[in-house]
Amino acid sequence: MKKFSAIVIAAGRGKRMRSKTAKVLHPVAGRPLIWYMVSLAGRVADARVVVVIGHQAERVRAYLEQSKTEFEPFDIALQPEQLGTGHAVQQAKAALMPNGKAASKHCLIVNADTPLLRRTTVKRLLARHEREKATLTLLSTDLSDPRGYGRVVRGNAGRVVKVVEEPDATRVERAIHEVNVGTYVVETSFLFRALARVHAQNAQGEYYLTDIVGLAVAEGRRVAGLKTADSSECVGVNTREHLAFVEQAMRQRIRTRWLEKGITLLDPRTTFIDDMVTVGTDTVLYPGVTLEGQTKIGADCVIRSHSRVTNSVVGQAVTIQDSSLVDSAIIEDRAMVGPFAHVRPGSMLRKQSKVGNFVELKNTELGAGSKSNHLTYLGDTFVGKRVNIGAGTITCNYDGYRKERTMIEDEAFIGSGAQLIAPVRVGKGAVVGAGSTISQDVPGEALALSRSPQVTREEWAVRRRAYYSEKSATAPKSTPSARGRKKGSKG
Ligand code: UD1
Ligand code: MG
Repeated sequence: MKKFSAIVIAAGRGKRMRSKTAKVLHPVAGRPLIWYMVSLAGRVADARVVVVIGHQAERVRAYLEQSKTEFEPFDIALQPEQLGTGHAVQQAKAALMPNGKAASKHCLIVNADTPLLRRTTVKRLLARHEREKATLTLLSTDLSDPRGYGRVVRGNAGRVVKVVEEPDATRVERAIHEVNVGTYVVETSFLFRALARVHAQNAQGEYYLTDIVGLAVAEGRRVAGLKTADSSECVGVNTREHLAFVEQAMRQRIRTRWLEKGITLLDPRTTFIDDMVTVGTDTVLYPGVTLEGQTKIGADCVIRSHSRVTNSVVGQAVTIQDSSLVDSAIIEDRAMVGPFAHVRPGSMLRKQSKVGNFVELKNTELGAGSKSNHLTYLGDTFVGKRVNIGAGTITCNYDGYRKERTMIEDEAFIGSGAQLIAPVRVGKGAVVGAGSTISQDVPGEALALSRSPQVTREEWAVRRRAYYSEKSATAPKSTPSARGRKKGSKG
């Protein structure tokens, strides 16, 4: 028989969050809260994992299903009404006791709202449970401010007697600092028998999972406890304040992870790296850098202050200068971006290409060694190799109805201030004169110009100056009293 199944209870509404969004979908370091415990459960259980969902079940289910490759296989059970944590666990019975027989000897039960809980701690809890041959083993910790948590009541020789929820606790019980973390290992057959006996006659009118502790003790069963010294990993997210705490703690763990792997963070406190991001060795991140989503950064990159890279793949030795935004793009080795560049979705910067100040790229490929250094918009554009895009070039890719493509072939030269009206093609090695508006294809090696001829009038400026100085000599001067006059008063 398998040893451990796991139940993640994630059906609660999270009232204290005061949010439209179910608590378990709020992000922590870029992942929904629920990810952490479903992931952990899958990694420690050798039998089935059941996730109990309820509030906003369709949204939570959609997330879990779309992300299922990130987890070990799991089943979903529905808690149609949120009647308490005990009732939530009961909904896993069908999956864990098929035909009335337990699928595994024990069940690990975790709340979905404790994302900082470490796998090593949970493994210690499982080991303690086995060693003590306990019916129920619970994880606890000492908190200087235990408010909001269930208190662990101990009796003779320090043995656990029960868990009491704060609203039901006596004054003496409230003074206890040892709290219930919401992580338990329970013998499966006992678990569902005991839950059937839990009632909702308490201050909150809920079926408390915690009541099974007292029931086990009353039956004379062995109840063990593991108290973890690191109370910060035990925080259950009930409010936005807890969420902020957990967010910061998780970010700090991630920073430590990357520092240990050989990444330089010049100011760790202001560097934000999402949990899914990977970074290559010897990359340097300056203050205020944010790396988000499914981003991969190669080795030896430099990302300067206040830049954000989201859902992008960045090669090796890439430089991203200050205050740039790279979103859903691919940047190949030794390319350079910024400062103040905006690389938008669908863009690809090939090797050693360069995108400079105030340049925006959207759904655009910039070929190897090509440069667009200043004040430019390239949208829906393909740029070949070693192309120079002059300052202020604009691709006019949208006619109000449709998006059209621009093709600029290898080694072409686009003069400054050109507008390329898509669909249009500039052939290999062709030159577009500065200030041109190009609406027809330019053959390879050609020069295309669309400027009106220049008009030059000798001495024109001198004549204009003389004209205006004569005029101002004859103009009536305004006096302070005239200016101060009220509207409608007689002159
Ligand atoms: C719970 C414990 C408390 C413990 C604390 C640790 C109970 C009765 N209390 O309190 O002893 O100190 O966690 O953080 O268990 N849920 C459901 N269905 C429901 C209600 C809740 O699935 O009907 C889920 C929630 O989504 C959440 C978890 O159970 O993931 C805990 O619920 P929550 O309301 O946060 O319980 P706490 O008040 O924190
Ligand atoms: Mg909670």
